[in-house]
Amino acid sequence: MPKTPSQTSTAWHSPQWYQRFFAWAMATAAQGYETKMADRKRQLFSHLQGEVLELGPGAGPNLPYFKPEIHWLGLEPNPYMHPYLQQQADSLGLNIDVQTTTLADIAIPDNSKDVVLCTLVLCSVPDLESTVQDILRVLKPGGQFLFIEHVMAPAGSFLRRVQTGLCPLWQVIGDGCRLDRETGKVIESAGFAKVDYQTFEAPVPIAVVKPHIIGAATKAS
Ligand SMILES: C[S@@+](CC[C@H](N)C(=O)[O-])C[C@H]1O[C@@H](n2cnc3c(N)ncnc32)[C@H](O)[C@@H]1O
Repeated sequence: MPKTPSQTSTAWHSPQWYQRFFAWAMATAAQGYETKMADRKRQLFSHLQGEVLELGPGAGPNLPYFKPEIHWLGLEPNPYMHPYLQQQADSLGLNIDVQTTTLADIAIPDNSKDVVLCTLVLCSVPDLESTVQDILRVLKPGGQFLFIEHVMAPAGSFLRRVQTGLCPLWQVIGDGCRLDRETGKVIESAGFAKVDYQTFEAPVPIAVVKPHIIGAATKAS
């Protein structure tokens, strides 16, 4: 059953000045990353159709990959992202519906979305396992979850030790972002019928966020 707001919680505690700064930073500083990720995103989002839910769309870097025919709902808890999103949507001629909330705090019906997608968001959600379960719940049978996320480096690696040590500080300066998530494993064990993803080194200058995964998880038909 969908949750009601009273049954849920959100970890959205950043002060307003920080939310405003983070929105500005995402809108202005991520352009180089987006240019280098364009081919991967074009391929990942090439078959989007129907009811599409995006978690944490930020300033809207994924909007250029969407066709005007889709029904797009974005859950973006930082309200200072919304003007950037709207501006991007207007310039692309897209109709968007953005809500200032999270999947844990909105009653989205079970089996209602053809696609759920997110990029660089599952590192920040307060409860990864429960978010992935909610994604599975709201997807229609046969629906797909598409994701690009940065993750923890392989066990035993030096980079993983650095990520572990830096994680508490990174969480504070990075708007709740965690460096120690094994997001691929959580998606694999969530109950999807099929999970396909690749690990790759993202084109970013900061080593601790280089390990990325990109892929799709399909709900049973
Ligand atoms: C690093 S930004 C990524 C934004 C965008 N998806 C991108 O690829 O540039 C993380 C985004 O997730 C949002 N966010 C944080 N916690 C969230 C949650 N629990 N549910 C949905 N979005 C969340 C933040 O407000 C922010 O916009």
